[in-house]
Amino acid sequence: MASARGARTRRASHEKLRNAAARRAVVVRGGKAQTKTVATGSAADFIPPNPTLPKLRDAAMRCRGCHLWTLGTQTVFGEGPKRARVMIVGEQPGDQEDRAGHPFVGPSGKLLDQALEHAGIERDDVYVTNAVKHFKWERGEKSARRVHKKPNDAEVRACHPWLDEEIRLVQPKVVVCLGATAAQSIMGKSFKVTKERGRAVKAPNGGIVIATVHPSSVLRAPDAAARAQAERDFMADIKKVARHLSG
Ligand code: URA
Ligand code: SF4
Repeated sequence: MASARGARTRRASHEKLRNAAARRAVVVRGGKAQTKTVATGSAADFIPPNPTLPKLRDAAMRCRGCHLWTLGTQTVFGEGPKRARVMIVGEQPGDQEDRAGHPFVGPSGKLLDQALEHAGIERDDVYVTNAVKHFKWERGEKSARRVHKKPNDAEVRACHPWLDEEIRLVQPKVVVCLGATAAQSIMGKSFKVTKERGRAVKAPNGGIVIATVHPSSVLRAPDAAARAQAERDFMADIKKVARHLSG
């Protein structure tokens, strides 16, 4: 039985771990939380043997592959059918996703939904996930708001094993990268979304990748005209994904 005392012990020991050196994980044996040194200091240490999507999701809830688990409320793992032909990869969960525990449920998700609908891509043909599975944020200077912080290279690398496994299991026909973080996680640091957007390129693992901007950049456009243009361009890129599915 997972007792309340066990949960308290685990929480207390997580607190102690906050400032501890990386590469330590919490294991629970006989109801007692212990720490053990793990091998890679990345999500790879937490991938279960013979993974399936449900097993991966479950294991990811306990990931301590980087320090971001101390910031986010919970792991926000990918969602969607195993047989999805399209995998959408964002950067990391936002404030609303962090609270809800589901990817793309906030403003960026609404815009993404519109683009998918506009392109005629069915939701049950889509698996949505992120390059980084915890919300990275800092307290705003003048408000209590949690302000999004871009994940750094080490964090993206540490989280990459989850994404790799999701792609390996779903084997989508097209992986759509929203923004540079997602695109570079899959294509490497020298990949430029500005140069390659909307083009089908071959990923190192052999799959097809189409990169576009992150919907949050569309939402941040400086004025109505720029916003309308950015939205048209984003919709056009997602339309190319649809063409790639039927072609
Ligand atoms: N932005 C992302 O990149 N991912 C989400 O899940 C939500 C917003
Ligand atoms: Fe693990 Fe990724 Fe969360 Fe870091 S961000 S703790 S690697 S799930």
